[in-house]
Amino acid sequence: MEKLVFGVDESTPQFLIEQFEKLEFKVSSKSLPPDNATGNLAWGNGQLGWQDPEFKKPLVFDLSQLPLVPKGLKSEPFARAIGLNNKQCDIWDATCGTGKDSLLMMAYGHRVKSFERNPWVFLLLQDALYRAENPFELFFGSCLDYKDKFDAPDLIYYDPMFPDKKKKALPRKEMQIFKKLGLRDQDEEEFIMAAKKIIKNRLVIKRPVKADVFLNSCTASFPGKSARYDMYMV
Ligand SMILES: C[S@@+](CC[C@H](N)C(=O)[O-])C[C@H]1O[C@@H](n2cnc3c(N)ncnc32)[C@H](O)[C@@H]1O
Repeated sequence: MEKLVFGVDESTPQFLIEQFEKLEFKVSSKSLPPDNATGNLAWGNGQLGWQDPEFKKPLVFDLSQLPLVPKGLKSEPFARAIGLNNKQCDIWDATCGTGKDSLLMMAYGHRVKSFERNPWVFLLLQDALYRAENPFELFFGSCLDYKDKFDAPDLIYYDPMFPDKKKKALPRKEMQIFKKLGLRDQDEEEFIMAAKKIIKNRLVIKRPVKADVFLNSCTASFPGKSARYDMYMV
């Protein structure tokens, strides 16, 4: 693993520099990229990116604007799983990743708190939110660690990394880089059992469309083309 570099210039926001120092110190071996991973965090053009030598451009998250909500929203599998009768709800996005799903749930009109446990991804998110018009609240670590700090959410949304596929088509750039960073989630069932004890209404889990249902106990499933949303009501 090359040394992680974070090139700083006079335009780098101070809070990012401080976060970087704090997180690098706190990173556990579990969240470190594997030894053969190469790449570094790089500051350039007023934004933070992850530069992977295999890609020409760094990976930069863009959360600058809320996405447009599609007209046929009620038939979208994701929106149907989130549901909740058009009421504004408190949602915890347990697996923030690129932040796109958090932003979409905000665009649906919900209040979103988002959680990310990988320090490099967390920093990229912090930077993107600094530039966002409608930032959501972001917290470092697992949402389970925050259960005594905040009121219980109506819904927890959980989108762990999909298992590796045998077929040739490559996942999109972010997910290829996430995999190289060693982001493979293997604690899903443990997480789901704990999350079910926190929620007021439902847990929604994103899975590959053909994958088995976790714990065999979901209330309803909403399949899309490549992903499926499994809903567990309490
Ligand atoms: C598949 S990605 C999520 C993609 C996301 N829904 C999006 O819109 O980009 C999974 C992310 O969740 C993070 N993650 C997985 N399990 C987590 C947990 N229990 N707590 C916090 N973050 C988690 C991983 O580090 C990774 O960044």
